[in-house]
Amino acid sequence: MAEAVARTPSTPSELREFVVGLPKAELHLHLEGTLEPELMFELAARNGVELPYASVADAHSAYEFEDLGAFLDLYYAATAVLQTAADFEDLTWAYLQRAAADGVIHVEPFFDPQSHLPRGVAMAEVIGGITAGLRRGEAELGISWRLIMCFLRNLSEEDALATWAEAEPFLADLHGVGLDSNEHDNPPVKFAKVYAEARAAGLKAVAHAGEEGPAEYIWQAIDVLRAVRIDHGVRAMDDPELMERLAAEGIALTMCPLSNQRLQVTPDLREHPAKRFLEAGIAVTMNSDDPAYFGGYVVDNYLALAAALDLSREDLAKMAATSLAVSWR
Ligand code: ADE
Ligand code: ZN
Repeated sequence: MAEAVARTPSTPSELREFVVGLPKAELHLHLEGTLEPELMFELAARNGVELPYASVADAHSAYEFEDLGAFLDLYYAATAVLQTAADFEDLTWAYLQRAAADGVIHVEPFFDPQSHLPRGVAMAEVIGGITAGLRRGEAELGISWRLIMCFLRNLSEEDALATWAEAEPFLADLHGVGLDSNEHDNPPVKFAKVYAEARAAGLKAVAHAGEEGPAEYIWQAIDVLRAVRIDHGVRAMDDPELMERLAAEGIALTMCPLSNQRLQVTPDLREHPAKRFLEAGIAVTMNSDDPAYFGGYVVDNYLALAAALDLSREDLAKMAATSLAVSWR
């Protein structure tokens, strides 16, 4: 009888409640990717910025992407509304309230200073606003945090080094460096020097790799950049030796299924490798990447993957526990 009860499939709302109730960390989240159209319109009005959308619904209907590059064009354009510390604080606070509702107790978000500094926004406004939002989230929602500054890999290493120099006064509020943007032809090895400087200053390293780029970029992120977690890592599925390495060394993957679906990395989620990675003993975590653009926050990612891959409650609980275990709390 007990067995029969245990096997009774959950209703969608019961499963959602179960996943929300799992304490979890979100480790792959671009703050700029949490800019919901409603807030985009509010900040555009505040700062006198003209948007390419007539309405919130119009913005939503533009969010169909053929690949990462098509998404990034639209995503970087929207950052024009982020100009002052107050804007960055509002953005961060709005995200944290959503995260709290999803049972997130710890966050390690990314931000992209190189999408703001060239527009004349000072690093102090960006980091000051983000950390004000994070401190409010800690005080009012009990969400702890670490902050990761990303370099845009489509730009030069000189640009990354200049950005690193601008960040030096704020190192007390930074815990890691990351690498994002267009992966094609922008291998991790291009950023060996700036990563070495960041590690020497005591920061940890992560990097996007194996999203649209090959498994070789994951090897480089580990061996050259000394990344302790890989963001996405989907293409590890092509390389059994790499899968063994990830498992043996406990190098976690911060996976984002709805992003992978929307950016055509794994258009059919039933082919997503997360379950194969779990079975291979790899530390897999669930995250939302750019939730305002990809149709869901972190719990939506757990549920979409569970439905596509027939994951058990144990699988879901394991990924949530792993997210806390591989975090920098
Ligand atoms: N920046 C924001 N989202 C990204 C993603 N999924 N891949 C690379 N760069 C990004
Ligand atoms: Zn990402």
